[in-house]
Amino acid sequence: MEPLKRPLSGLAILPRAGGSQVPVSPDEIPVVAVASGKGGVGKTTVAVNLALALAASGLRTGLVDADLYGPDVPRMLGLRRRQDAAQLTVFGAAGTAAARLQAVERHGIQLASAALLIGEGQGLGVTAGLAELLVRRLISDTDWDSPDCLVVDLPPGTADIQQFVFALRGRPVHVLAVVTPQAIAHQDVRRLLAYLQRRAGAPASPQILGGVENYSGLICAHCGEVTPMYPAAASEESVWTFLERIVSVPFSPRAAADADQGRPVMLTRAVPEQVTAFELLARRVRDRLAPPAQPRGAASD
Ligand SMILES: Nc1ncnc2c1ncn2[C@@H]1O[C@H](COP(=O)(O)OP(=O)(O)OP(=O)(O)O)[C@@H](O)[C@H]1O
Ligand SMILES: [Mg+2]
Repeated sequence: MEPLKRPLSGLAILPRAGGSQVPVSPDEIPVVAVASGKGGVGKTTVAVNLALALAASGLRTGLVDADLYGPDVPRMLGLRRRQDAAQLTVFGAAGTAAARLQAVERHGIQLASAALLIGEGQGLGVTAGLAELLVRRLISDTDWDSPDCLVVDLPPGTADIQQFVFALRGRPVHVLAVVTPQAIAHQDVRRLLAYLQRRAGAPASPQILGGVENYSGLICAHCGEVTPMYPAAASEESVWTFLERIVSVPFSPRAAADADQGRPVMLTRAVPEQVTAFELLARRVRDRLAPPAQPRGAASD
């Protein structure tokens, strides 16, 4: 694929089908929402490593930590704020300094997270209305440096924050579902997919990119052999009968320990099975964000 070209205007330009290049305004930057039905399945791990893999492939990438209830992204990237905030501004009048947030640059990606606004020992305690306001602030009221896409780490399920992101208007929203082999994770992701299907046809309806199977085996720390962590979900319960499994990511104790220390596997590159999976995932996501040019003369719709 052609590398993405950057105009002097500071607007991202994505190659479009047919080979034309169309400037993208900040409010049109595509979103890849990393979602799941169940908590703890590895959404944040996937979002962080996908963002790093996209950036390594040459895409300017923003990462939005939209899990206001457990904003873990900064810590996974080695950023910690130990000092408590005396106050948190959730709204600033247009034109004032408080109206915009600044994205933080880390390891080649741009990051916006509510965790950077408060100390790590503080809780946000957000109500539904406030959650929407804060997520809007993190996505649309943040000064991004012309990214080509925003990877958004969501909390589990289909509650207020997720619904707000899925319904973002004006931007292509792509959903990546993270599933573990457990039957219960498949059952819960069915709920997510059913919700997304109900939205299909709505003015702003997200595209389902496919699924990432996480914890798809345990990599032995000594011999490297991969053994199953969970029995596979029965075929009548499995989402893989209708959802594309883009990659499988095995569990690695080494990667888990490094992640706790703020060193995601796409930086350490210590677990080749995971690095290969995240690189493949990034290629597939990139292809979906910028479809390959159609041959000359092909009909356009
Ligand atoms: N494939 C993996 N290999 C090693 N460790 C992993 C892997 N996937 C996730 N982990 C670890 O498991 C824990 C849970 O993962 P993570 O925080 O990404 O899940 P989550 O779905 O975002 O959770 P939540 O629903 O609470 O937001 C983390 O400590 C993470 O480092
Ligand atoms: Mg998470």
